[in-house]
Amino acid sequence: MTELRTPVIIINFKAYSEAEGPKAIKLARICAGVAEETGVNIAVCPPIVELGKIARTVRIPVLSQHLDPMMPGSATGWATPSMVAASGAVGTLLNHAEHHMMLADIRQAVEMCRTAGLISVVCTDSASSSGAAAFFSPDFVAVEPPELIGGDTSVTDANPEVVKGAVDTVRRVNDNVAVLCGAGIKTGEDVRSALDLGTDGVLLASGVVKHKDPRQALRDLVSRI
Ligand code: G3P
Repeated sequence: MTELRTPVIIINFKAYSEAEGPKAIKLARICAGVAEETGVNIAVCPPIVELGKIARTVRIPVLSQHLDPMMPGSATGWATPSMVAASGAVGTLLNHAEHHMMLADIRQAVEMCRTAGLISVVCTDSASSSGAAAFFSPDFVAVEPPELIGGDTSVTDANPEVVKGAVDTVRRVNDNVAVLCGAGIKTGEDVRSALDLGTDGVLLASGVVKHKDPRQALRDLVSRI
């Protein structure tokens, strides 16, 4: 499996219009540029239609925003682990708050990612669901309280307990699973707080994708690592 070194900052482009078509490549290049100039591990999750192009363009890890636990073949419109791996992506988010999956599908997707050599990042909404996800042995669990997603208050300020709770619960269940947190993270100070709470990095979107100067936003985000 390709390694995703920690601490890591994963930028989810979501389906923002700021990341459509050529704008996704431009944004990925900015992320790669800041990773190169600062030495900080930055990974990107572009829209799936741009996945292969971006994976072939930048030299930082590229992850899918989602995949489906399906085998190659009769699976029209689904994104199989096999096709995501073949695109050049190194991993995927699973069960994002905006793309929920059934528990059984999360489990199967994590297993299929392992077989395909893909890194799995299972998103959760609480400390207890983070512990449950850790039983599947993904590479990462990313806790994101849905009510804080896309807002201006960082989870590390609004609800540090859920971050600490997720870290403690996941460590108890499976010490090999790394923990990220996300929702409302915008600044280097927020990233520092996330690391001080015991996480291995952050997952964020609007703080970079919707910022008027994404390069400046990224430089600030990595400044306290
Ligand atoms: O996947 C990251 C996301 O859900 C958090 O979004 O905009 O609060 O950083 P945002």
